[in-house]
Parts: sequence; structure tokens; C-alpha cells
Amino acid sequence: MPKATPHVIYIAGPDISADQANANAQQQGLKQPVLLKRRGTTLGWVAEHPEQNSIDANTAAMAWHNSAAYALPGYVDTELSQHQTNIRQALGLMEAIAEGAEVAELFEQAPYSERTTPQFEMLASFQDEGDAQEIETIEYDAVDGDEVVAENLWCKASWLSFEDDDASLRFRFSFGMVGYEDVAADLQRQHYAAQLTDAIFPESAVISNNSKLDTFMQTVLGTEKLAYVERIIYFNAPNGGAQFHQDVERGHLGVVFAQVHGSTCWLACSKTQLMDEVQAFINDSSNSESLDTLMNETMQAELKSKTSTREQLNEWLDERDNEPLELLLNRCPAFYRHLFEKGYGYIISPGDIILLPQKSIDECCWHTVFCIDDFPGESLSFAIRAIV
Ligand SMILES: [Fe+2]
Repeated sequence: MPKATPHVIYIAGPDISADQANANAQQQGLKQPVLLKRRGTTLGWVAEHPEQNSIDANTAAMAWHNSAAYALPGYVDTELSQHQTNIRQALGLMEAIAEGAEVAELFEQAPYSERTTPQFEMLASFQDEGDAQEIETIEYDAVDGDEVVAENLWCKASWLSFEDDDASLRFRFSFGMVGYEDVAADLQRQHYAAQLTDAIFPESAVISNNSKLDTFMQTVLGTEKLAYVERIIYFNAPNGGAQFHQDVERGHLGVVFAQVHGSTCWLACSKTQLMDEVQAFINDSSNSESLDTLMNETMQAELKSKTSTREQLNEWLDERDNEPLELLLNRCPAFYRHLFEKGYGYIISPGDIILLPQKSIDECCWHTVFCIDDFPGESLSFAIRAIV
């Protein structure tokens, strides 16, 4: 279900000046507008309504059930104020790595060594030659005295793009052999990998040690026991962000994303909603000019044919090689206008949370993200699972 009134308004295409966008936003009583720009592609000016949306666990549960996004503005404001020192340290860490410092070396120094000792023992650090985006992987064992309680946990630092003018990077925490292990089956190691995140980035507690959020998420998920696993700490830098994608993975139900520094702008909706809007946009002849500027006739013909039935479109979204669709989803200002007008836009600021259900490949929340500041921000992206 799309929301009735859009909270984030698409003001104008990318070609107007900042002054024009400001005047336009002021006229409509909106907050300061921001330009959506990612790796050289600008998609337009948007601005947020000054009033915050209300937060309700039952409405959130319904959105979750429908695989739609749900935002909790200001939900962790209070918790966040206690972590400002940790956040400043994390931003310093990101900056040092962006400038070429070795992650393992930094983790062996204060404040990281104090926080990981004695519960975690660093084993090794390496760089996977086959993964061009990887910066460094640091391996740890969780120990209790002389006893190893969880082996081969890791923190993997990676770039988010190959562009020189996008310094965005992330730290992912998990364990074992990437892609080979059924991580969801090993709750013990999942638990310790999560603890390692808390040790290196203590600001994680705004999600992982938050009884108010636990109660809320119990209602949303309809479960009594839950855990935040497969954690990622994102540092989205100017010009960075993520193209439209989903985060479905076996063993978790979705993602809880909290912004702790800087702001991000999102389009987020269920796969069903996205398919509705792709079809509506293509079938509207007034959009043909926008498609003409985006792709040639052959590609347009493929776009029209492969989006004509739900089954085909559903599958095409999951394929790697789907260039005409990828252009529409990531590079078409008119399509972004369309999605914002349908109410799928969010601006997620420090203290805000956004919920992204990821039940299955057909029932999941698709989303695209932009850094909207002229400095890097920090956010927590934790998968959530029920424990039976
Ligand atoms: Fe995602």
C-alpha cells in the first residue's frame, strides 16, 4: 500500500539551480532541498515535509507483512546522544582507512584493542585477491580464558564502489567461509560475530541493546525472541549510496537500519509495488521522451517486452544482465519523480530507523540509497531473525 501523502517531495529534475530548488521548497513549506547524486548521475531535487510521521507498531507490522518499508523518525535520538564519542572515533577510523591506513594495525591500537580484549583474539588479517572491492579482512576467535568459544569470526572492510570520487566503505561482520557456510544454522557463532560488532563499534547498542526497540520489533515480527545478526556498519560518502536492490538472505527476516551520523535519502517499496510502478511508468505514453533520452530503440523494445507480464518482470528484476531495467531503476529522473510522488521516498537522519522486510526473493523490500551530505555519514544495518 503506498502512503496517501508523500513525506518526501520531488521538487524538480536535476537541471535546476540550488537557488531555484530552495525557492521552490520554501514556497511549498518544505525543509531545505537536497540533490540526489550518485557516482556521476544526478536524479533530481527532493525536500522533506517538516512534520514527522507518527510511529505505530501495528502499522509497522502490517507494512512488514506486506514487504513494504517503514520509517521510525527520531526513534533512537536519546540512545544516540550517549554514543557521540564512539561515533566520532568510528568516523576517524573510516577516514584513516580511506586515506590508506591498514585496518588490522588500527584495530591493534586504542580504543579498539581495549574493547576487543580479552573476549576476542585477533588471528590474522588478509586481502582476498579475487575480491577487488575488499580492503582487508580481520579474523578473530572469541575466547573465554583458554577456551575458544567461537572460531574464525571476521570483520571485512570493503569499498562500496570503484569510483575514485566515492570513498564509501563498509564493515561486515560474520564468520567462516563466505558463501560456503549456512551462517543461520550456527547461532552461537552468529551471536559472537554480533558481539564483535558491539566491541568495535559500540554505537551498535542503539539497535542491539534497546529494550524499547526489542518490544516494537516483537510486535512487528510477531515473535517473542529475536536477534540482530549479520551486521554491517556503513559509511556512505558524498557521491555514494546504493543502486536499487534487495537484501534477501536465508535465515533472516529483514533489515533494521539506523542512521547515526549524516543523512541518507531512500526510495523503498515492496517488490510488488516496484513492479506496479515500473509497469505504470512504461505504459504511460507521456514518459516516452524520458525513455528516449535514457536508451536506444532496441533497449526500449526489450524493456517493453520483458515488463509486459508480471512473471517476466518478476524474474527479470532478479537477473544480473538486465541493462534496460537497471537504467530505468537507477538513472531515470522521471521514474524517480514517479516513485517519490507515490510516497516511497524517505530521508533518514541521525536517530531515525528504517525497517526493510526481506522474507523471500518475491516478498521483499527493494531500496536505493543516496548520501545527501557533503561529508561521510555512518549507519548500522543489522539483519533481524527470530529465535525459536
Ligand atoms: Fe540494502
